[in-house]
Amino acid sequence: MPGPVAKRVYIKTYGCQMNVYDSARMADVLAPLGYAPCDAPEDADMAVVNTCHIREKAAEKVYSELGRLARIKAERRREGATYMIAVAGCVAQAEGEEMRRRAPFVDIVCGPQAYHRLPELVARARREGGAVDTEFPAESKFDFLPEASAPQGVAAFLSVQEGCDKFCTFCVVPYTRGAEVSRPVAAVMDEALKLVGQGTREITLLGQNVNAYHGLGPDGKSWGLGRLIRALAGIDGLWRIRYTTSHPLDMDGELIEAHRDVPALMPFLHLPVQSGSDAVLRRMNRRHDTAGYLRTIERLRRARPDLALSSDFIVGFPGETDSDFEATLKLIADIGFAQAFSFKYSPRPGTQAAEMADQVPEDVKDARLHQLQALLRRQQDAFNLACEGRVVEVLFDRPGRRRGQSMGRSPWLQPVHVNDDVRLGELRPVRIVKSLANSLAGVAA
Ligand code: SAH
Ligand code: SF4
Ligand code: F3S
Repeated sequence: MPGPVAKRVYIKTYGCQMNVYDSARMADVLAPLGYAPCDAPEDADMAVVNTCHIREKAAEKVYSELGRLARIKAERRREGATYMIAVAGCVAQAEGEEMRRRAPFVDIVCGPQAYHRLPELVARARREGGAVDTEFPAESKFDFLPEASAPQGVAAFLSVQEGCDKFCTFCVVPYTRGAEVSRPVAAVMDEALKLVGQGTREITLLGQNVNAYHGLGPDGKSWGLGRLIRALAGIDGLWRIRYTTSHPLDMDGELIEAHRDVPALMPFLHLPVQSGSDAVLRRMNRRHDTAGYLRTIERLRRARPDLALSSDFIVGFPGETDSDFEATLKLIADIGFAQAFSFKYSPRPGTQAAEMADQVPEDVKDARLHQLQALLRRQQDAFNLACEGRVVEVLFDRPGRRRGQSMGRSPWLQPVHVNDDVRLGELRPVRIVKSLANSLAGVAA
């Protein structure tokens, strides 16, 4: 029997690491239909845009990308050929049918929990001229997604948890990803074993709220993330484990102890605090105060003294005063972050904070962001500078930008490049010779 006709799919990914993971899974789902991935939309027969709804800017980018794809589609039409455009991810979920009204050339709109239904949607779009699926199906997509077809690389992502029940007042994720669910331990272990068998040496466990993980264990009990990490650390050939993104409230004793006891668990943690003002945290519905956050950090540092920290910050949340903002700067100064992401508050449709009084003017947000980022930059530079002269373990996971260069990551997630002859997948001690703006230069020791 002849196989499926060779076709190509271009997948463009916006947003968080979960979207990166999902895009790889969508490629797996489309492979049996005869679609092989390609790097340019012009070379493709189908384009998938995996979108992010988190801030207005992120969502806007999608429409300019779609405009570009619409032009390719029109050109194909003139040649008598077809070009299928699918929108996936959080904008797809948030806008649903509305998206096809705004961009009628879009063939498929598919929410993040419906990717396993893509083949069906492709068939329906061909038959009926369009298909939309933004349900939160009763079945888990993970039970229906095919096995990864291509090796995921030396450092790979593995989604263990999805969705969020926290409802921070600024955030769309509970609406776009749905309720919090965890994959069973056995499914995670199987996928991890497969990845390691294909050469993966570092796994980053993913979830919108990954430390809220509570998957069904092989003993019939619910396992937390700490326990899952201990089990994963037993896999031969898996050298490094990371997880992201965590909520301070779910940083339980078991997980903190894993940082103390599991050498494969890397000493770097992204633990978003958003603000250093208790009043703002309350209005954000973060359900912890700054003292609680500081206590958690203290416990973590006691468990793993070389732990480096990262966070997310929002400036200009409704009602944020100068002294609220000062409190955020103080918290940053007190903790010292190795790295962090910071954003101007962006009102999102359907969220509580968008309706709050005292929205902060744009110019105030700009000034605060500028000041906050300058402080974070100084802290990041100091952290990187302190690595000069030290020998750190680097896991090489990709070729460098220049010929003969290899790139890897330090335990603290810093990108490190060397000009030595190293193989991808090698873990090597590297002497750091120079701290650059966003990476470290080293020499294999
Ligand atoms: N689950 C994670 C964060 C997911 S979203 C957590 O609880 O921390 C990633 C980051 O985007 C958030 O940490 C927040 O800093 C930022 N963010 C989310 N909604 C935002 C909004 N409306 N405006 C600006 N930044 C936002
Ligand atoms: Fe959004 Fe808050 Fe859930 Fe994080 S914890 S995904 S910020 S609602
Ligand atoms: Fe964006 Fe959705 Fe991730 S809104 S940050 S792609 S969960």
